[in-house]
Amino acid sequence: MCGIVGYIGQQDSKEVLLNGLAKLEYRGYDSAGIALLNEDGINLFKVKGRIATLRESVDAGVHATMGIGHTRWATHGEPSEENAHPHQSTSGRFTLVHNGVIENYQDIKKEYLQDVVFRSETDTEVVVQLIEKLFEKNQDTLVSFRQAMEMLEGSYAIALIDNEDSDTLYVSKNKSPLLVGLGEGFNVVASDAMATLKETDQYLEIHDKEIVIVKRDAVTIQKLDGSVVERNPYTAQIDASDIEKGTYEHFMLKEIDEQPIVMRKIIKEYQDEAGELTLDEDIRAAMKAADRIYIIAAGTSYHAGLVGKNLIEKVAGIPVEVHVSSEFSYNMPLLSEKPLFIFISQSGETADSRAVLVKIKEMGHPALTVTNVPGSTLSREADYTLHLHAGPEIAVASTKAYTAQIAVLAILAVDTAKVKGIELDFDLMQELAIVANGIDALTGQKEELESLTRDYLETTRNAFFLGRSLDYYVSLEGALKLKEISYIQAEGFAGGELKHGTIALIEKGTPVIALATQANVNYSIRGNVQEVVARGANAMIISMKGLEQDDDAFVLPAVHELLTPLMSVVPLQIIAYYAALHRGADVDKPRNLAKSVTVE
Ligand code: G6P
Repeated sequence: MCGIVGYIGQQDSKEVLLNGLAKLEYRGYDSAGIALLNEDGINLFKVKGRIATLRESVDAGVHATMGIGHTRWATHGEPSEENAHPHQSTSGRFTLVHNGVIENYQDIKKEYLQDVVFRSETDTEVVVQLIEKLFEKNQDTLVSFRQAMEMLEGSYAIALIDNEDSDTLYVSKNKSPLLVGLGEGFNVVASDAMATLKETDQYLEIHDKEIVIVKRDAVTIQKLDGSVVERNPYTAQIDASDIEKGTYEHFMLKEIDEQPIVMRKIIKEYQDEAGELTLDEDIRAAMKAADRIYIIAAGTSYHAGLVGKNLIEKVAGIPVEVHVSSEFSYNMPLLSEKPLFIFISQSGETADSRAVLVKIKEMGHPALTVTNVPGSTLSREADYTLHLHAGPEIAVASTKAYTAQIAVLAILAVDTAKVKGIELDFDLMQELAIVANGIDALTGQKEELESLTRDYLETTRNAFFLGRSLDYYVSLEGALKLKEISYIQAEGFAGGELKHGTIALIEKGTPVIALATQANVNYSIRGNVQEVVARGANAMIISMKGLEQDDDAFVLPAVHELLTPLMSVVPLQIIAYYAALHRGADVDKPRNLAKSVTVE
């Protein structure tokens, strides 16, 4: 959470910083600030609110060829101007931005900074004050920066300016993402290459606990012991048009509409010209060797993992457990003899998932990451990666990453089945092509879905999603989509659990959205709908061609029974979108949330 941009070069840095921060708003957006260093010293602009507000507050007359910026998701201290970054040391000499959580900030404060008067409630200010305190003794910024980094525990991505030195940005990271972008006569620093893609497509990875000295025409990476590290840059594979809204009002709708394209891209990327699946032999061997798979994920990725479990167990015959990453470390199950861990993560940066990855690597277990960002932390630190090929997903509410995750897990399941010599009676790639066409049809039915939104969700404070079997997993995702962007209290629940508590909440007019895409439970889920209708619910059924009945509110095109979530989630995404839109909510940036959850 939180986004960082830094620039040091020849041109005015304001625009680079503000444009970069706008691209990083998905990482948090409750307050923001920039610090610009020129001959007058540090010029600091901070606001509570979004980058658009920051832009208005920045003095257009200030020119500086060097600066740092930050967009915040509050952890320590409420969103406010005082708590917004950049933070400065008491003398004003050092200015710093930080993403992450410093776990020992209270200890540092007590031990070294008792005489300091703090201006904010943040853990970040402790870092900049510590650097100043160390500098008072050694009078060397690099040494002080390094010593401070050695003392920090927790996660951080940091960029520091010493206002007596207009030639250097000091940068370091641990657990939180940070990259250095390389240019001609300038260099940039960013939490994500997306932020500075206009400036350069050449990036240097920074590893945990490295110190990077960024100058206009040179970048030096050092270890904490001062030894120099050589590393080649890589080319960021992001198309600039992928991170623009184009004619869409919101990224979320654009990303919903992109799902058929993503599905076709996945089909193309994962098979060769002869139609054979093209997974790495190493991944094949790891899947074959596993006696049990542990899927670890959060949020929407967790919901995709539930569907993935069904696919892998049914198709490849390997037992699978799915765990919420934030709980796994405390409630660690007894592991099998040959476990394989699969991390599912759109961003590849979710801190809770990374904590599990670090732990299981220490235990010596193999890990595969399924992610949309191949260079991400979870991708780099796992043994193997499967790429989602979904293109950048910007809206906080995940849509195309979910369907891409399920499609890639289906490919993994089918590939493993083939490796194990299991006969399958369907051609997955053909079935995914049918899905792509089906989603195309659904995205053309937005008016109908908008009208259902008006009929069922317009004034309600709560809503229930109901399903059995695979539909249960999708009902969890449908409820998550609705609650996170429209703020309607929504729950997904299993049809059979209804009578064990949830039905007590059903009263006259309560909206219930039931999914009926599973032949084997079609009768029983419809029975559950009758039960809620009998108690006054305003219920609608979304069914699938071949299973539909006369009064169903919406009928999905038929797809293979294992792949129904790829279809049934789409109307739920669209309904959530319109529910949020009609309520005037900020669809792409819902309150209190951030897309990349990089703190545990
Ligand atoms: C946040 C996002 C969700 C996402 C979840 C897991 O909550 O808002 O869209 O599903 O994090 O993120 P990951 O990047 O690991 O899939």
